[in-house]
Amino acid sequence: MRGMKAAIAFLLVLTVDIADGNAGFHNGWTGACDGCHGSLAGASFSALQPGATTSEICLRCHAAARPEDYQVATSPAPPHGVPPASLTPGGDFAYLTKQYYWSEANGARAVSPGERHGHNIAAPAYGYFPDATLTSSPGGTYPSDALSCISCHDPHGNYRVTDSAGTVTASGNPVTDSGSYGASPSATDAVGSYRLLAGRGYGTRGTSHEFVYDPPIAVAPREYNRGEDSGDTRVAYGKGSSEWCLNCHSGLSNWQGSAHLHPSGVALGEAIAKTYNHYVKSGDLSGNESGAFTSLVPFQSGDLTDVQQLASITTSHAGPKPDDKVMCLTCHRAHASAFDAITRWNTKETVLTVNGGYPGTDAVNQGSDPGAAGGKTRAEYRVAMYDRAPSHFGRFQRSLCNKCHARD
Ligand code: HEC
Ligand code: HEC
Ligand code: HEC
Ligand code: HEC
Ligand code: HEC
Ligand code: HEC
Repeated sequence: MRGMKAAIAFLLVLTVDIADGNAGFHNGWTGACDGCHGSLAGASFSALQPGATTSEICLRCHAAARPEDYQVATSPAPPHGVPPASLTPGGDFAYLTKQYYWSEANGARAVSPGERHGHNIAAPAYGYFPDATLTSSPGGTYPSDALSCISCHDPHGNYRVTDSAGTVTASGNPVTDSGSYGASPSATDAVGSYRLLAGRGYGTRGTSHEFVYDPPIAVAPREYNRGEDSGDTRVAYGKGSSEWCLNCHSGLSNWQGSAHLHPSGVALGEAIAKTYNHYVKSGDLSGNESGAFTSLVPFQSGDLTDVQQLASITTSHAGPKPDDKVMCLTCHRAHASAFDAITRWNTKETVLTVNGGYPGTDAVNQGSDPGAAGGKTRAEYRVAMYDRAPSHFGRFQRSLCNKCHARD
């Protein structure tokens, strides 16, 4: 009976794989050319077309009504009151379609528009349009109307890591495996860059913009699209994680004198690392280093370049050492989130929980003020927190800036 079940399960997997032809498409580098070029991709696509339709080509495989694994967009866009379902580290692009409205306690109307929730890649068929407010990357010059999946990811996966010192090149030893899960390069074989991210010298044909920083060295766990109530999905970010974002946001590298509020790419130091490790939640500083990690406030593990070392960190719950760093992805997600400025938690309100529960438009008479909910129901708010129960936080949890600064 058991063998039978296993056989059926195996057959099912096989059929699904054959049916969508998707299993291991890129494998760290260029997938089958006709996956994106030619007839399979639909008559409208040619490699000569500009950014807009490019994202749609990617989304044919990377969006789904019930997204799993590598699917990074819920499509069709979920209706009002229903949250996007993908819970990857990068986040679900369907947040770009979510407009949240509410009335403040004083009656004023407030809005958190979809275009504030992510990188607005142009993909009209999915309801994603270029950002109408930020017409180029803040702190940089990348034109918003050229923003697509391949602005950041090299569709041909040419960038590769060739040794344990984290050397990245765009040609050389052949790529034989994905570089995202801890496979090591050897003397003869390279691995792809983390998440096929582009590096130095890269540009798409839609713009004259050129990258100056190589992709980060990082490792994700194999299972990375999941709720985090019973455990965090830990990406181990190594060397170059902060610098990579500067490819388009160079002006934000030096926070002093810039509009941006926070340093990035700097070591936490003794005192801040200690605070992170002791901080459990508002009012509770009884934690210790071995269990301190939360993926809502990740950090860069020093300047590690060895993917095997990074892979071992993906299963650890330990907090930072003093030479670990605060980085852009400490506070932001790479794709999209439920909050303005693509932040991992709501940085605009005082509290993240109200009397032990999440705030919500459906919980105003439980003492939750409408601003705290930011136009979301309690259920939507919980998904925005990657499906964590509110019991992970203090009864009136303050901003997670406190994980490092403990000013609550
Ligand atoms: C994951 C999708 C994808 C796959 C797989 C893919 N390509 Fe492309 N290719 C693109 C996109 C998107 C562009 C347009 C790039 C741009 O606008 O800068 C492109 C552009 C090109 C170009 C134009 C020159 C350039 O690099 O901009 C050539 C040639 C090309 N691809 C060849 C191939 C070959 C050969 C394969 C198979 C080995 C392949 N591609 C596989 C997405 C893909
Ligand atoms: C024919 C379906 C298909 C198309 C088209 C496609 N992908 Fe993928 N993609 C997959 C599958 C399947 C995976 C997971 C397995 C793998 O990595 O190959 C994946 C994985 C990825 C990953 C993670 C890879 C890793 O090793 O960490 C990235 C990043 C990605 N795709 C980006 C893109 C971009 C950008 C485009 C458009 C230029 C695109 N994909 C087009 C099917 C596709
Ligand atoms: C602004 C740059 C940027 C754009 C635009 C972008 N990505 Fe990503 N993507 C990233 C980064 C950075 C990561 C790694 C996130 C992490 O591990 O925290 C990532 C991760 C991924 C992953 C792994 C799963 C995850 O979400 O962590 C996939 C698959 C992927 N991207 C596909 C896409 C597709 C498809 C598009 C277009 C619809 C796209 N990306 C647009 C930067 C970008
Ligand atoms: C400690 C948390 C934190 C870190 C680290 C951080 N940010 Fe931010 N960032 C924020 C917050 C919070 C906002 C929203 C500020 C506001 O709306 O007033 C923001 C806003 C932004 C904006 C929007 C600015 C605008 O003019 O609309 C960009 C772009 C940005 N950050 C990029 C980055 C990049 C790139 C890095 C790394 C070099 C980075 N951030 C590091 C917290 C952070
Ligand atoms: C290929 C260029 C490119 C890269 C690389 C890039 N960004 Fe952006 N980013 C943009 C553009 C263009 C905008 C403005 C358009 C938009 O917001 O959709 C933007 C906007 C933002 C915003 C403001 C969002 C809002 O609406 O308030 C934040 C925050 C941000 N980026 C963070 C990051 C972080 C963090 C990284 C690294 C993981 C990164 N960016 C990498 C091009 C880029
Ligand atoms: C991962 C840890 C971490 C998180 C989370 C964090 N910070 Fe920081 N913060 C730092 C570090 C490290 C410094 C630099 C300290 C130094 O150079 O002495 C810093 C410095 C600052 C400074 C002083 C900047 C200056 O000009 O010297 C302010 C203000 C600040 N953080 C506010 C915030 C706010 C607001 C948030 C939440 C949006 C936040 N921090 C989240 C680690 C963090």
